[in-house]
Amino acid sequence: MQFFIFIDSHTHLLPSMDDGARSVEESEQMIRALSEQGIEEVYLTPHYYSHKEAVDKFLSRRTESYRLLKPILDRYGMKHRLGAEVYAIPAIFNYANLNDLCIEGTDFLLLEMSSPKSTPERELRLIEEIYSRYPVKIVLAHIDRYPFMLKGKVFKQFANLGVYMQLNLDFLDAGLMAKQRFLKYIKQGYVQFLGTDCHRMTGRRIPEVEKYRSQLVTKLTSEELGNIY
Ligand SMILES: [Fe+2]
Repeated sequence: MQFFIFIDSHTHLLPSMDDGARSVEESEQMIRALSEQGIEEVYLTPHYYSHKEAVDKFLSRRTESYRLLKPILDRYGMKHRLGAEVYAIPAIFNYANLNDLCIEGTDFLLLEMSSPKSTPERELRLIEEIYSRYPVKIVLAHIDRYPFMLKGKVFKQFANLGVYMQLNLDFLDAGLMAKQRFLKYIKQGYVQFLGTDCHRMTGRRIPEVEKYRSQLVTKLTSEELGNIY
């Protein structure tokens, strides 16, 4: 396979929302970089911390940030959906519904497990609780960040809850064991979303796609990549 098109499902492109893009100019540089690397659609997923900010306030900040970014997204012909990266903490249960935090036009809720040092038991309980209260589909953000996801048995417990999985592309920079493990999860059909999780134009989380896509297409068949949106 020469070319593999996927949605960048996890980005911090909205300006001045979180620790991502600091200005419209920086957002534009990131969008241009993604576009030049063949990304045609992005999900705009700023961090949402329910223990720090009311949903309404977050949404009105997001609306304002999006108002500034929309002309640029349109200029680059970048398809997009608004969303959020929702921190997994019991404070989210203060809300009667989580619809406005889902990826626009879908019932996908991008959920960030609280900490790589957290226990899988805590996260599993929280996911079960979300599923018991809300009609959403949980997408677990950057599963590559949690060492417990490397353990097949633990991973299966999450998969058995019916969650969707998102990998950050830079999992391909991880050690051989971790890299092979996550490639295997893709092959087995457990991963539906890939993302850059890009925050800035410099530093660790830049809009880097091509370097990773070229590796993916040599390591996986088009069929194995077939579950990715
Ligand atoms: Fe993120």
